[in-house]
Amino acid sequence: MGDLLIRTASDDDVRTLVEDKDDRHYFLDHLGNGRGILLFAFLNDVFVGRIFLRLEPAEEPELRDGLPGVPLLQHFKVRQEHRGSGIGRRLLRDAEQRLSDQGHRRVALAVHPENKRAIKLYRRQRYRAWRKGVLTTYVERVVDGGRTVRLEEPCLVFVKRLGVWAMMTPCGWSWRRRTH
Ligand SMILES: CC(C)(COP(=O)(O)OP(=O)(O)OC[C@H]1O[C@@H](n2cnc3c(N)ncnc32)[C@H](O)[C@@H]1OP(=O)(O)O)[C@@H](O)C(=O)NCCC(=O)NCCS
Repeated sequence: MGDLLIRTASDDDVRTLVEDKDDRHYFLDHLGNGRGILLFAFLNDVFVGRIFLRLEPAEEPELRDGLPGVPLLQHFKVRQEHRGSGIGRRLLRDAEQRLSDQGHRRVALAVHPENKRAIKLYRRQRYRAWRKGVLTTYVERVVDGGRTVRLEEPCLVFVKRLGVWAMMTPCGWSWRRRTH
């Protein structure tokens, strides 16, 4: 891989680099309202991927109540032609490090049960199922005239402990050497 740079994105970055209108709307709305941090990845100065770190409570009541204060990773995507070369993993780790530096002890994300590639990646990065079964989550779609509609999407929820909390077991501390 060449030079990979991961940095926070501005409104202007979103306007110029995000092609999907649903994602563009979501990012501008959430950045404008200070709901989180958007990270963009650039490979040799070319925009190749992004992830949103949602710091505000989730819209889904089960997540709000069951994982209070736990940030959510959303809108994680690497451009098709750049997949499979480790960019997704680097974006995830960068997001986790930033959250850990801010004092967060856990991070969560939701993934469609059929998204095998993403689930494999999360498991290898030590994300664990939060609870059995799927949860109904919401996605926003921009329709005619800029109006948005909210659609339901069934998802599995995964959670990861961050920083030193990753070494904490129910019985105390585990000093197993961390491999990443
Ligand atoms: C999920 C996604 C962001 C991963 O990004 P990526 O840059 O391809 O991921 P990486 O190259 O870091 O690969 C990490 C893991 O993904 C899997 N993977 C990546 N490319 C793969 C491929 N071509 N075939 C099969 N598995 C693949 C592997 O498990 C790999 O781990 P390993 O190398 O340790 O075995 C990317 O596939 C994507 O944008 N998908 C579409 C959007 C999406 O589904 N987002 C997740 C929503 S929850």
